[in-house]
Amino acid sequence: MSDAAAWDRRYEGEGFTFGAEPNLHLQALASRIRPGMRALALGDGEGRNGVWLARQGLAVTSLDWSPVGVAKARALAALQGVALDARVADLTNWDWPEAGFDLVAWIYVHLPPADRDLVAAAAVRALAPGGLLALECFSPAQEGRRSGGPKEVALLWTRAIAEAAFAELEVLELFEGAVLLDEGPKHQGLAEIVRGLFRKRVP
Ligand SMILES: C[S@@+](CC[C@H](N)C(=O)[O-])C[C@H]1O[C@@H](n2cnc3c(N)ncnc32)[C@H](O)[C@@H]1O
Repeated sequence: MSDAAAWDRRYEGEGFTFGAEPNLHLQALASRIRPGMRALALGDGEGRNGVWLARQGLAVTSLDWSPVGVAKARALAALQGVALDARVADLTNWDWPEAGFDLVAWIYVHLPPADRDLVAAAAVRALAPGGLLALECFSPAQEGRRSGGPKEVALLWTRAIAEAAFAELEVLELFEGAVLLDEGPKHQGLAEIVRGLFRKRVP
């Protein structure tokens, strides 16, 4: 099982494990986001996604339990001249705000099922009405591929898991299948993923 210290070890060194450019699914949201929106990049690692959102003018909170990752996220933000509220925190016991975000980015964060349920519920509560949740994670079909992802099948996502985790949200997109990844040294090649975009209903 992965922990913060294991992620610290992965993030030591100068490079960016998953690249310094944002995930493509997140980038495709460009037409849906506006400066001033409040975004949460959870499990943001070395900050590629949080920093890109900040570059679009969003007010971004970037969370990760790896102090090394968070330090690199802060450095990347400084290098690109944007403000990033990057914090070291465990997603399973963070003090989640209620309706505090217009966008939650859940990109390649694979949690044990009980933690995944807890964090998904917290993320749904943390969305403001009309807020978006962008998800991209590996699916069980990724087993045996070398393009990334955890080995434990229980950590992987399926379309059904995403539908259940975000049942309260409106589904705007939900895809389970193969894509070509080109994200730093650790996400390279054909990969089996679940990619979703969800929206909190306006009462
Ligand atoms: C595969 S990396 C993805 C990083 C980033 N989202 C990206 O796409 O570049 C998964 C990240 O989730 C973080 N993570 C895993 N479990 C966590 C937890 N319980 N609390 C906070 N961060 C966690 C790890 O430290 C790691 O940075």
